Amino acid sequence: MPSTLFTNATLACFDAADGYGLRAQAALRVDEGRIAWLGAASDCEPAGGTEVVDCGGRLLTPGLVDCHTHLVYGGDRADEFEQRLEGASYAEIAAAGGGIRATVAATRRASEEELFAQARPRVQALLAEGVTTLEIKSGYGLDCETEIKMLRVAARLGDELGVRVQKTFLGAHALPPEFDGRADAYIDRVCDDMLPRAAAEGLVDAVDVFVESIAFSPAQAERVFDCAARLGLPIKAHAEQLSDLGGAALAAARGALSVDHLEYLSETDVALLAANGTVAVLLPGAFYVLRETRLPPLEALRAHGVPLALASDGNPGSSPLHSLLLILNLGCTLFRLTPAEALRGVTLNGAKALGLEDEIGSLEVGKQADLALWDVDRPAMLAYRVGINPCRAVMQGGAWRRRPETS
Ligand code: NIG
Ligand code: FE
Repeated sequence: MPSTLFTNATLACFDAADGYGLRAQAALRVDEGRIAWLGAASDCEPAGGTEVVDCGGRLLTPGLVDCHTHLVYGGDRADEFEQRLEGASYAEIAAAGGGIRATVAATRRASEEELFAQARPRVQALLAEGVTTLEIKSGYGLDCETEIKMLRVAARLGDELGVRVQKTFLGAHALPPEFDGRADAYIDRVCDDMLPRAAAEGLVDAVDVFVESIAFSPAQAERVFDCAARLGLPIKAHAEQLSDLGGAALAAARGALSVDHLEYLSETDVALLAANGTVAVLLPGAFYVLRETRLPPLEALRAHGVPLALASDGNPGSSPLHSLLLILNLGCTLFRLTPAEALRGVTLNGAKALGLEDEIGSLEVGKQADLALWDVDRPAMLAYRVGINPCRAVMQGGAWRRRPETS
């Protein structure tokens, strides 16, 4: 693999405890797919055979990480968007058999090929904005065959589009209709059959549970977490999105990588996230689409030093958004994150939410060379402006996904 030297760049390294870790007039060398050196542009001498990219002062960041998506599914839910505009709530639609269950029916009907074809443009939209790692959850199958079908499609998207995809099993996302009134029996099925089989096929990097009154109780979540522990898999939770059931505290106490949503997280439970190194993944897309008004407890999360990540939550119901740049803007405007917090949330802390912070997410020697070069000179530009994609070039593992045009 040829070496590449980025010179005359503004680096946002995310290599310190906070801020961007900015280095102006800097250079970064990539060897064998990894960051081999970075420092002042004046200190580097390109060796023979090295490709030199003059960045012209532009911003070079770690490739972006979208650590929470549900991008593999059949159909759409534009009809529910219309119903919500006429006054129905997300929870009411779910209780009437729509919502996640509507997507489950469409996903069960779709072939693996159809699911792949439908998901590909969603992933491509993220990649066009500098994403080099994304997570994709199952959870619209709710039977063994369809959950495994979704995870296979997720793996194939990674292989064919040349992006790192982390696969999360979310069998406990909603109760399938054939288990109506028998949630505990469904959890037995998840733990005795679905999760062990998906894991045995090498399709599970982490296990997630939706803890909510319209989904599963903390006690049911615990049983899934026990099963994950037996299989040696890390856990996550959708928690405190619509009410406070204590799901985030439960997951954090068991060492969860992340707990996600968190609008109803109580300030007392924030300390448990901090104590266990659990990342708080904020999802402003769902907050925006569902027109929520209750904000996650940002001040308490900051005061306790909980790592904050941001993600698209791309899904057909609560967040049909496929732009991580838009999410940066929503995180700042709706949740009042600083642009530095927001960008850290889609780089280093996004990586941490996936357990990958030693490998990706910052510009540091030894890390994988996942890089995005932007037609901006200041990082805040990425969160500030909406509707222009300034992504100029993307390198994934030291190989060009998109080369910079010379100008
Ligand atoms: O993260 N909260 C639960 N799950 C998804 C929504 C899934 C859907 O509505 O299809 C979320 O928002
Ligand atoms: Fe989600």
